[in-house]
Amino acid sequence: MARARFEIVEKERYSEDVYRMKVTAPLVPPGASAGQFIIVRVDDHGERIPLTLMDFSTEEGTVEMVFQVVGTTTDKLSLLGVGDCLQDVVGPLGMPTEVDQFGRVACVGGGVGIAALYPIARAMVGAGNDVRVLLGSRDREHLVLLDRMEALGAQVEVATDDGSVGTKGFVTSLVKEAAEKWKPDRVVAVGPVPMMAAVSSLTRGYGILTVVSLNAIMLDGTGMCGTCRCEVGGETKFSCVDGPEFDGHQVDFDLLTARLGVYRDEEEQSRKRFDGMAAEYRHPCGEAPPLEGGGLSGRPLPPLEGGRRGRPGP
Ligand SMILES: Cc1cc2nc3c(=O)[nH]c(=O)nc-3n(C[C@H](O)[C@H](O)[C@H](O)COP(=O)(O)OP(=O)(O)OC[C@H]3O[C@@H](n4cnc5c(N)ncnc54)[C@H](O)[C@@H]3O)c2cc1C
Ligand code: FES
Repeated sequence: MARARFEIVEKERYSEDVYRMKVTAPLVPPGASAGQFIIVRVDDHGERIPLTLMDFSTEEGTVEMVFQVVGTTTDKLSLLGVGDCLQDVVGPLGMPTEVDQFGRVACVGGGVGIAALYPIARAMVGAGNDVRVLLGSRDREHLVLLDRMEALGAQVEVATDDGSVGTKGFVTSLVKEAAEKWKPDRVVAVGPVPMMAAVSSLTRGYGILTVVSLNAIMLDGTGMCGTCRCEVGGETKFSCVDGPEFDGHQVDFDLLTARLGVYRDEEEQSRKRFDGMAAEYRHPCGEAPPLEGGGLSGRPLPPLEGGRRGRPGP
């Protein structure tokens, strides 16, 4: 049976606010690699949000994403179920992770960033590296994809803030121990900005090359609007086309943090507005046009009008 475009074919709730979805998007998987992302629009009036390609299958023509509900768009997304359709799925976007035989590679994930880390860890294992996966989470409930990580065959270590699984404390304690005893040749860290900043600061002292995946606010995702710009090694970079992965020792994390807060008031207002409407939210499924045309995901990028991100960043 032919599936509708961008149809949700699987939905799984990992915790109170974290979900996994598998969606049909047959033009995305060919050419997709670890480290890349998609831009998703939930409905015709919605903003675009970037989400990492957690997994993809060319045979099935599907992509998988794991997302945490933090605001209006992720909230709307969480209200959809199997059989509903997304408005757009555009991708693959961004530069793939550099994967090679580096030797010992520590893959460090925090929170929902663990989902983004999964295809990277898998690719590093596939390239013949000796991989150690170090995961940090608030608690057991928020620890996602542990089973998939363990299935990779790499050594997996966990730290939780409350000690409900693994070591009690932050993932940086696992990184410190690995840096001292195991001495990785490379670290790849994906997670909240403070975690990536802390890991980079730590590994700088040990001289270990550290790659981080930046979650800058994005709009078009194709290098045109400048919303995602960040500073790396004193140079301005566009996270969507030059990244999202950069040398963590060169990233200006303070600037990234400041820019992530630029739309806080608008995000707050949008959230309040949507909270009042969420119970009545009905997704206009069935209105998606047939799968044809050009563009990254089978049709041209939709126009950039509207939305609180429809204006340039500072
Ligand atoms: C390349 C890339 C890959 C990403 N992959 C994932 C993923 O796999 N899973 C996932 O859950 N999230 C991911 N994110 C973050 C995700 O895009 C944001 O959480 C989302 O845009 C929030 O939209 P919203 O409308 O729900 O919340 P908003 O109302 O826009 O924001 C709510 C809160 O989240 C913060 N926020 C907004 N945008 C971001 C952002 N880009 N990064 C971090 N915090 C943000 C705001 O400061 C605010 O505190 C990724 C971001 C990038 C740039
Ligand atoms: S989102 Fe990167 S330039 Fe627009």
